[in-house]
This record gives sequence, structure tokens and C-alpha cells, in this order.
Amino acid sequence: VPAVLELLGDGDDVLDLACGQGVLARELARSGRKVVGVDISAELIRLAREEEVREPLGIRYLVDDATTLAQLADASFDGVACNLALTDIDDLDSTFRRLCRVLRPHGWFTFATVHPCFATPHARSVEVEGRTLMQVGRYFEEGRWYGDNPEGLRGRLGSLHRRLSTILNALVEAGCRIECLAEPRGGKDIVDKVPVYGEVAEVLVVRCRRA
Ligand SMILES: C[S@@+](CC[C@H](N)C(=O)[O-])C[C@H]1O[C@@H](n2cnc3c(N)ncnc32)[C@H](O)[C@@H]1O
Repeated sequence: VPAVLELLGDGDDVLDLACGQGVLARELARSGRKVVGVDISAELIRLAREEEVREPLGIRYLVDDATTLAQLADASFDGVACNLALTDIDDLDSTFRRLCRVLRPHGWFTFATVHPCFATPHARSVEVEGRTLMQVGRYFEEGRWYGDNPEGLRGRLGSLHRRLSTILNALVEAGCRIECLAEPRGGKDIVDKVPVYGEVAEVLVVRCRRA
């Protein structure tokens, strides 16, 4: 979330795309923005609304599909932010086209995603000569993959892997110009828990702009 906040553009009206329980939406609202959060999960939107009752920040939450954004008017946002949701959304091309539709001209889109070069269908940390390194494979196999633990989140839901070029080309195809990338190094708290994030980037953050 801090890495996304660092790469935002200007303007008051911001959409949190695939907002889940509203973690990013609340940070955006606390920084003074007028926020709408959309998510396909009615249950997560219910939890987000509960939080809005506990701490009113003026956030409007809607159940909607990122691939259609049927409830949102054209050119109604200065920016769209999206935290760690692209690997859960089936149709990236439609999503990028729809979010360009709801952006005002020159509006920005900032997203964080698990890094596509390191969170591949085969990625595991291995000990090599006293260092914890990432072993990466199956990079070219795009599509849904499932984690080894059938009880875990990714074991049950899976995750959609796409190559870096697929993601960036889809943005360009939708009419976005890429402005800025970040690959933040894990802080001490993260690296202490998952040492390999001191070696490779956990997330990729991108800001682009609609023509
Ligand atoms: C890993 S969660 C991230 C949630 C939130 N952005 C956060 O940072 O906590 C991924 C989210 O994507 C949502 N999602 C998946 N497909 C979607 C779609 N087609 N349209 C809208 N939301 C979708 C899920 O319901 C889930 O809330």
C-alpha cells in the first residue's frame, strides 16, 4: 500500500479497483481524496461498508465487475488505483479498456501486482551457499495456476500468471502511456519473515496515463 501511495497522480476523484475490504480505499480517503471502491465480491464490499460505518471517511463502495464497470460513468475519475488484484482478474484487456473509459483525459492508473518475473507458477525460495534465493520457472505458462497447499488461499483460488510483456502491452493497447515503475525492496519487517524478498522484488508498481 505505501508503494502504491507513493506513485499516485493528482486529482480528487479516485477509484479503488478491486478494493476488497477497502484497505487502500481508506488510505486514499485519509489523504483527502474522494474515493469510490468497487469489487466483484459482495461479501468483501459488505465488510468494507462495515468499516466505513465504524470510521466514516466518505467512501462509496459498489459491487461491480472490473471487466465491465457497468455502474460507473465515463470520464468520472482523475485516477484509478489497484492493489494486488490483477492476478485475480480473468480478463485484463477488458479491465484496462474499462478503466480507461472511466478515467478523465490524462487521468492516471497506478497498480501494484505480485512481480510477474518472480511470482511464476513455479517459484520457491531455496538455500544456496548460505543465501536464500528465488528459484523461478514456468514463466512462459500464462494462465491460472494453483499453490501446493490445497487449504491455502492460492491452493483454493489459484492465481493468474501473465508475463511482464503481456501486462505492459495490454496497458499500451488500452491507450495508456507508462510513466513510472517501482520495484520496492522489502523492508526489514518483511525480509525477517520472508528472507527471499531481500533478494528479489515481491511487487511491481506501475503508474501509467490515459491519452
Ligand atoms: C488479493 S485481493 C486484493 C484486495 C484489495 N485490493 C486489497 O489490497 O486488500 C483481490 C481482489 O480482487 C477482487 N476481484 C477479482 N476479480 C474481480 C473482478 N472481475 N472485478 C472486481 N474485483 C475483482 C476480489 O474479489 C478481491 O477482493
